Amino acid sequence: MVCLLMKCSKAPGKVLLFGEHFVVKGKPALGVAVSLYVKTCVELGKGRVYSKQLGLIEPSSPHRALFDAVIQAVVERYGATPSLDVEVDSELPIASGMGSSAAIAVSLTHAVLSLMNIDFNREDVRLIAHEAEKAVHYRPSGVDTTLSTYGGFLYYKQGDFKRLDLRLPVDTLLVIVNTGQKRQTGVVVREVLERYSRIGEVAELIYSAGELVVSKAIKALEQGDANQLGELMLVNHGLLWSMGASSIICDTVVHDLLSSGAYGAKISGAGRGGVVIGLIPRSALESLRVWLQRKGYEFYIVEPDYTGVVSA
Ligand code: PMV
Repeated sequence: MVCLLMKCSKAPGKVLLFGEHFVVKGKPALGVAVSLYVKTCVELGKGRVYSKQLGLIEPSSPHRALFDAVIQAVVERYGATPSLDVEVDSELPIASGMGSSAAIAVSLTHAVLSLMNIDFNREDVRLIAHEAEKAVHYRPSGVDTTLSTYGGFLYYKQGDFKRLDLRLPVDTLLVIVNTGQKRQTGVVVREVLERYSRIGEVAELIYSAGELVVSKAIKALEQGDANQLGELMLVNHGLLWSMGASSIICDTVVHDLLSSGAYGAKISGAGRGGVVIGLIPRSALESLRVWLQRKGYEFYIVEPDYTGVVSA
């Protein structure tokens, strides 16, 4: 095995556009990779992991588990690896539903396999990153690692993934607002499911509506209909709200995005904090920036990423 000097790879984060939570009960969901990246570089070294955002990650740190799990998954598949130093630089907020750990796992896997001069393809990267995610997260669906590996739009239902050839409507962008409210996906999922069992048939109707929203959203994307897409985002937000997945700050951000010209907005991912996404016309970008800055929000203007993981 010939090791090169240093290899860097970058992988995108993601947002869920439609169907979060409903997907837990077998309904479909739609996610998209976005133009915010984690860049990871590896070289022969002493097993040191350094994050530009978090500093040196000591072996005892809880942040270290993911890095160790990736190396372990590579070893299981390809045999012993040399000791490596890792440096990671992430544009993604942590624990906000944007798939930052998946993007770390995917970019690290890609960089390690490149450094070791292994003949690999994207599916190898996805499988290894998914193994690593399984070691550190409770039952990951695999959507984050799939989107980070391949990019683009992804439809998924009951563990089946289908990449869809979609584009955002012409002259629209996604705005992502980080509410800064931390939440644990597992806790929100459990409480939403508890409400589901308390309200029975009402929840079934809400979830069926969620399923219809996904199919109509795919049509709206195919037809490039920004108004319809925005309206469906609001309906999706309302359905999630009725299942207890929103919060005051999430609702406030949705209203703020609407009053600054968004076609629609919704929580993305588990909710009760994390990120809120909006679909905005390009023409509203500058006024929106000023408005969101004045409100003091941390926000990102993004486009879909269609490339997935690449050498950087
Ligand atoms: O917030 P995230 O990106 O971890 O997404 C959670 C999505 C849920 O549908 C709420 C849970 C799941 O496992 O699909």
